[in-house]
Formats: sequence, C-alpha cells, structure tokens
Amino acid sequence: MPELPSYMEEIYDWAYVNPRLVALLDRQIVVQTILWGNANKLVKAAVEEFKPGDHMLQTANVYGYLPKTLAERVGPTGSYELRDVTPIQVKRCRKKLAGMDHASVIHANAIEPYGRTFDGVCCFFLLHEVPDDYKYRIVNNVLEAVRPGGKAVFVDYHQWNRFHPMGPIMWAVFRFLEPFAASLCASEIQNYSELSSKFTWTKKTFFGGLYQKVVATRVAE
Ligand SMILES: C[S@@+](CC[C@H](N)C(=O)[O-])C[C@H]1O[C@@H](n2cnc3c(N)ncnc32)[C@H](O)[C@@H]1O
Repeated sequence: MPELPSYMEEIYDWAYVNPRLVALLDRQIVVQTILWGNANKLVKAAVEEFKPGDHMLQTANVYGYLPKTLAERVGPTGSYELRDVTPIQVKRCRKKLAGMDHASVIHANAIEPYGRTFDGVCCFFLLHEVPDDYKYRIVNNVLEAVRPGGKAVFVDYHQWNRFHPMGPIMWAVFRFLEPFAASLCASEIQNYSELSSKFTWTKKTFFGGLYQKVVATRVAE
C-alpha cells in the first residue's frame, strides 16, 4: 500500500481526503465552477486525444465524469487503468467504473514507475498539485509509459495572459490554496523530463492562457 504523501494531508485534506467533503465535491458542477466554466471544454479536449481500442492510463482521479468518459471512449476493445494515491478516491472510482470490465483502478503513487507501456496516458490537473520533485518523477514516468507512436496528454494550469481579468483571483488561489501551481506555470511541461527529446510536443492554451493541453507523441522507433 502506498503511503499518503504529506502534501495530501497538509494541503489537500479538505479536497481529497476528508470523506464528507469528498462526497460533496465529487461532482462535475464543482469542477466546472473551479475551472471558471471551462471543465467541459477541457475534458472534451483531453478525451478527443484517445480512440476506441486504446490501452490507456490515467495518472490520478478527477472529480466529475472524466474517468467514466475516458473509459467509455476506449471501450471494451481497449483498456482503461486509473491510479490514485488516496484510498477514498480509489474506492469512489471503483464505484464510478463498476460494470466496465475493461476499466481498473489501482491504489498507487504516480511517482512510482508504471511498469508497462500504454497507447496513451492522460495526466489531468495533477502536476499543479504536486511538489516540484514529484513533477519531475511523474512526467518521467508518464513519458516512459508511452509506447512508440503513442501519446501523453497533459491538461493543467498555464501562465495566463498579462491582463487576464481572473489574474488577481488566480494569484490568490495559487498563493493560499495551490502552493505548487506557480512553478508549473513558470515552466514548460517538457522541461520536467530527460525523455522529452524522444517526443514531438504540441501545446494549445485555453481561456486567455489560463489552461493548457500539451500532447507529447512518442517518435516511432
Ligand atoms: C488529479 S488531481 C486534481 C484534479 C481536479 N482538480 C479535479 O477536479 O479532480 C486530484 C487527484 O490526484 C490524486 N493524487 C495526488 N497526488 C497523487 C500522486 N502522487 N499519485 C497519485 N495520485 C495523486 C489525489 O488523490 C486526487 O484524487
């Protein structure tokens, strides 16, 4: 059993560990609100990168309908594996995906190597929540787990445009609730791995630059 990382207890207990709050927060409307109405668009942007028959991994749970939608997208000719480090999240995901035989949920820390390769890996709003040393280990693991010709899809925060109207609010959110997010915005995701040169990278930003989708496609060998 993986240990719960200290940041989960010290910073994110209210969001992902406390059972009462978790039950309240695990709804698409909550994600939609936190992402200023952009969650559905960002989910769609992630899901459209995968196709029926893909064998895919999601690095951590996401509230709302993303896990089920991704599992439906790859379908029973493919497979969908979700990992999460928090026991209550694992339990809830197993319920969400009940009856989908091609979907599985594993209790694991994303900093541990995945041990196999996939057609696609989805890392949705995980990197901004983890300390920098975790960012490096997770991006490395994700890239290592992509087979040649396959892709990794990262959706997360991004450095917003200079005069973005939400800028001051986001500054306060990062300052008081998301202490590891600013460093993600100050860098490029490809800078977090030595394997980056084996991939071609594309980036698309959303909502005045506040969000990014980065797709890393592994060059076929
Ligand atoms: C993907 S992030 C945030 C996603 C988004 N904010 C949402 O609406 O759910 C949240 C999940 O990441 C998980 N998590 C955090 N650190 C992790 C790690 N090192 N390995 C695996 N899962 C992790 C938490 O348990 C939680 O379920």
